[in-house]
Amino acid sequence: MGYRIAVAGATGAVGHEILQILAERAFPADEVTALASGASEGQTVSFGEQKELNVKALDKFDFTGIDIALFSPGAKVSAQHAPRAAAAGAIVIDNTSHFRMESDVPLVVPEVNAKAIADYSARNIIANPNCSTIQMVLTLKPLHDLAHIRRVVVATYQSTSGAGREAMDELFNQTRAIYMNEPIQKKVFPKQIAFNVIPQIDTFLDDGSTKEEWKMAAETQKILDPDIQVTATCVRVPVFIGHAEAVNIEFENVISVDAARKALKAFPGISVIDYRTEEGYVTPQECASEDKVFVSRIRTDPTRPHGLNLWIVADNLRKGAALNAVQIAETLVSDYIG
Ligand SMILES: NC(=O)c1ccc[n+]([C@@H]2O[C@H](COP(=O)([O-])OP(=O)(O)OC[C@H]3O[C@@H](n4cnc5c(N)ncnc54)[C@H](OP(=O)(O)O)[C@@H]3O)[C@@H](O)[C@H]2O)c1
Repeated sequence: MGYRIAVAGATGAVGHEILQILAERAFPADEVTALASGASEGQTVSFGEQKELNVKALDKFDFTGIDIALFSPGAKVSAQHAPRAAAAGAIVIDNTSHFRMESDVPLVVPEVNAKAIADYSARNIIANPNCSTIQMVLTLKPLHDLAHIRRVVVATYQSTSGAGREAMDELFNQTRAIYMNEPIQKKVFPKQIAFNVIPQIDTFLDDGSTKEEWKMAAETQKILDPDIQVTATCVRVPVFIGHAEAVNIEFENVISVDAARKALKAFPGISVIDYRTEEGYVTPQECASEDKVFVSRIRTDPTRPHGLNLWIVADNLRKGAALNAVQIAETLVSDYIG
């Protein structure tokens, strides 16, 4: 017997990918319900190649009988409706930032800390980490096991899809407006994103960092190790899909490039493409629609006793959001509620 699944945020960038991945991986679903705002009620969304689903309004939907609810309707909407779904008996896997740092909500990247899923029953909610955290923490895990990470310095190059559908449209429309010599419209991003880069993702905090930068540190500590120090600079770039990260890692113990490469290659979900020639590395454009996290440019940092530099790229809508959420659902089904 299959499961009854609801996808809240089904008309959005992440929701679209969740439906695609559920179908691709033949998730054992008897029924899939697509939910969005009242404005989308009655529209249809694709479920795999063959099926279309009618969109229902989240605020009127009764979650009784739903086994798993995959949420990506934005933090404020999840704050309101995820607990309602959980109270009706659904296990919520939430993509938004709202529940991530709550101590009784597990924050999970299955390859890294699948065991944390066991704690879902406290609230019936499991949180999916931030897209830029997921690809970094997956890469850090085998290296931490090898030589114990002390500190991480990361600069991100994050695509517009990380801010949703409207943000991708903004990049497209601004680019077109520039070529057509028309005025630029700004709605989603604080500055022009076409032909530009913006060193601000999410709001500013009192210490001058942004919330996205804080999330990368706090979430890495919750998932992997509270003693790892992380300092981040998060930048939006004019790319549609795929986040890149330039990462500098300081270790407690000796680590060679060869040993790091071997550990990364052996780790699930990672593909090492690192040939030290032109084209011997992966760019965001090449990782779109791929499930793997790609690691390239692995090299020693000669300025630290035990340091490495590397380049990480992944599809932020897949491993950075939808795929990770579906993997959590698969683990729930295989290990907890099957
Ligand atoms: N994009 C990423 O890479 C990524 C990664 C990790 C996490 N996330 C998080 O996932 C969430 C959604 O991201 P997204 O990129 O999919 O955004 P998006 O493309 O803007 O889609 C937003 C979705 O939420 C729905 N929604 C908005 N207001 C709603 C309401 N009041 N009631 C019910 N549904 C409502 C929208 O429905 P309508 O079409 O009806 O408006 C749409 O389906 C955000 O919290 C984001 O931070 C995104």
